[in-house]
Amino acid sequence: MNNPAPAAVVVLAAGAGTRMRSRTPKVLHEIGGRSLLIHALTAAEGAGPAELVAVLRHERERVAAHLADHAPEVLIADQDEIPGTGRAVQCGLGKVTATEGTVLVTYGDVPLLDPATLRGLVAAHEEAAAAVTVLTATVPDPTGYGRILRSEDGAEVLGIVEHKDATDTQREIVEINSGIYAFDLAVLRDALDRITTTNAQGEMYLTDVLSIARQDGRSVRAVVTDDQMMVEGVNDRVQLAQLGAEMNRRILEGHMRAGVTVVDPGSTWIDADVSIGQDAIIRPWVQLHGATDIGEEAEIGPETTLTDTEVGPGACVVRTQATLAVIGKDASVGPFSYLRPGTVLGTKGKIGGFVETKNAQIGDGTKVPHLSYVGDAEIGEGTNLGAGTIVANYDGVTKSRTTVGSHVRVGADSVLVAPVSLGDGAHTGAGTVVRKDVPPGALAVNASAQRNMEGWALRRRAGTAAGEAARAALGEHAPGDAASGSGAQESKEHEQR
Ligand code: UD1
Ligand code: CA
Repeated sequence: MNNPAPAAVVVLAAGAGTRMRSRTPKVLHEIGGRSLLIHALTAAEGAGPAELVAVLRHERERVAAHLADHAPEVLIADQDEIPGTGRAVQCGLGKVTATEGTVLVTYGDVPLLDPATLRGLVAAHEEAAAAVTVLTATVPDPTGYGRILRSEDGAEVLGIVEHKDATDTQREIVEINSGIYAFDLAVLRDALDRITTTNAQGEMYLTDVLSIARQDGRSVRAVVTDDQMMVEGVNDRVQLAQLGAEMNRRILEGHMRAGVTVVDPGSTWIDADVSIGQDAIIRPWVQLHGATDIGEEAEIGPETTLTDTEVGPGACVVRTQATLAVIGKDASVGPFSYLRPGTVLGTKGKIGGFVETKNAQIGDGTKVPHLSYVGDAEIGEGTNLGAGTIVANYDGVTKSRTTVGSHVRVGADSVLVAPVSLGDGAHTGAGTVVRKDVPPGALAVNASAQRNMEGWALRRRAGTAAGEAARAALGEHAPGDAASGSGAQESKEHEQR
């Protein structure tokens, strides 16, 4: 058999996780953009089981709601008040309809386990026609773990002794039980009916199944992994951070091997569900979260955080924060810009420096280059919003939409007061407050006429640096002292349009 699929996987997640010291159930803590439990279930699903069961008890409703949101296909089994991993599996099997075949047991707090290891475990288990095959690891400090007791020739596993039940000699054993196993389903059901709670912790130990199977003359085997991190569980927040960093390291390695340049892996964080096209370049201090999707040859960073954001091929995104945004092919964004949900920037579009956008469709080749806010707006193609253009979408009560056509030229410091629309090819003068629709091709202006009060600085700022600079610049054209009276002021003013 090449890639045998198990009949079922039972994922244990009923424990309290008190060492997390958290109001959030342990298995709902996240690394790599997913909960520990979803990582565990994703690995389990990757083994291709016919049935997948999660065993819950602690914070049952919260964990069940999380599963309904993120893994609705998973069956939920409830553990009762009888404690221990043996009881947990027994409760889990209550949901398994199969009567024969291989069943895998894994933990909901072991996030780095991968499907390939599970499939390898099933293959080894079935090849050896074993009753139980346990995944083990040799570790420098086995404190707290169950120890593997082997036959003299080492081929068979005689049993597992828990740290708390072990003798001093047994505690010297450095081969530990990972807690991940392949069982013959019929053997497992039968043995679970026979285990007791007579041990140091007063619990039903799943580990007792191994010695029972062994006593029944069945074969019990071990598969040793040299990837210790992969079988490590999270018990506290120190381990959460350690396994989070290791997961990130593995994710980055995967992208680099697939042809993505990661300039500084040490400052780059990429979630498990992110996809990145070939020859993309990820610069230092970048975080890519959620379902972010980066196109081929895009350049991201430095210092950029993208969440659930799609970046087209060849686009360039520098020092930017974006959530639920779509950035078109060959577009450019940043530096120092903030793209909020619903931002859609077209092909070769530009959102430049110090720009905030929200629920804004910005067409192909359109530019919002400097210091703008664009919210609840739709802008056509090839348009340019001058520096400092603000879309005033909110009147304090309601939010309204703004429509700007194609090839529009909005003058610097214009305010587009929604709801308003500007037709194709419309223009606005600098400083225009657009409250009425602008027809296609029209120029809208409403900045008030400029008055120049000539010599004002010489009269009102005499003796200051500005006054002296003005006097020096005007030279012989400087008005005489007689002109300093206020009555002369009027005659010195003239309008300039
Ligand atoms: C268990 C193993 C130990 C192994 C270690 C690996 C037993 C008796 N011991 O010990 O040999 O080296 O895991 O980490 O199996 N759980 C339930 N219901 C329960 C108790 C636990 O669902 O009543 C779940 C927990 O949520 C957790 C997993 O089982 O996901 C392991 O529980 P934990 O208490 O950490 O087991 P250990 O005592 O560490
Ligand atoms: Ca544990």
